[in-house]
Amino acid sequence: MARISYRLLPLPIFVLVVSLLFYQSAGLNSEGQYLLDIKSRIGDTYNHLSNWNPNDSTPCGWKGVDCTSDYNPVVWCLDLSSMNLSGSLSPSLGGLAKLPVELARLSCLTALNIANNRISGPFPDQIGNLSSLSLLIAYSNNITGPLPATLGNLKRLRTFRAGQNLISGSFTFGDWWM
Ligand SMILES: *[C@@H]1O[C@H](CO)[C@@H](O)[C@H](O)[C@H]1NC(C)=O
Ligand SMILES: *[C@@H]1O[C@H](CO)[C@@H](O)[C@H](O)[C@H]1NC(C)=O
Ligand SMILES: *[C@@H]1O[C@H](CO)[C@@H](O)[C@H](O)[C@H]1NC(C)=O
Ligand SMILES: *[C@@H]1O[C@H](CO)[C@@H](O)[C@H](O)[C@H]1NC(C)=O
Repeated sequence: MARISYRLLPLPIFVLVVSLLFYQSAGLNSEGQYLLDIKSRIGDTYNHLSNWNPNDSTPCGWKGVDCTSDYNPVVWCLDLSSMNLSGSLSPSLGGLAKLPVELARLSCLTALNIANNRISGPFPDQIGNLSSLSLLIAYSNNITGPLPATLGNLKRLRTFRAGQNLISGSFTFGDWWM
C-alpha cells in the first residue's frame, strides 16, 4: 500500500484520516462495556467468562454472547445459563437496549438466559428497557422478588420462566399471570 504523505493533504482530509485511524483503534463498544459491568457483579468461580476481554472492540466473540451479523453488530442473545454464576444482576443490563436512534434498528437483545446459576437479588428495574426481549429464562437461581413493575414494558415477551427462585408476589403480564 502506498504511503500517505499527510503534509500534502488538505486540512479537512487530514482531520478525517486521523480520526479514522483513531476510530479503528477505539476501545470496546458500549454494549461490551455494559457486559463487563454485568460481569463485575458476578462471581464466576469456574471462569466461564474468562474470554470477556476488555481489549476487544466488540463483545461478539465472548462466551454466551451472540451478535447480529450486521456491519455494526449488536448483541441479540445473551446465554449465561448453567455456569455456576453467583452475585446479582447489574442495572447495566438495561444498556443492552440502547441503540443509536438514527439507525432505527429492530434487532437488539431478544433473548436472555441466566437459568441454573446462583444469581441472587432482584431483577433490576432496567430490565424493562429491553424492549425487544421475547425470551427471558431465569429459573433455578436465588432471585428475590417482587418482580419489577417495569417488566410490564416488555411487550414482546413471549416466554418467561423464573421458577425455582425466591420471587414473591404475583404480577399481571398483559393478558397472563405468573
Ligand atoms: C489488554 O491490553 C493491554 C495492553 O496492550 C495488555 O497489557 C493486557 O494484558 C490486555 N488484556 C487482556 C485481557 O488481553
Ligand atoms: C458447577 O459447580 C459444580 C460444583 O459445585 C461443578 O462440579 C460443576 O462442574 C460446575 N459446572 C459448571 C458448568 O461450571
Ligand atoms: C439459594 O440460597 C440458599 C440459602 O442462601 C442456598 O441454600 C441455596 O443453595 C441457593 N440456591 C441456589 C440455586 O443457588
Ligand atoms: C431505563 O430504565 C430506567 C428504569 O426503569 C428508566 O428510568 C429509564 O428511563 C430507562 N431508559 C431508557 C433509555 O429507556
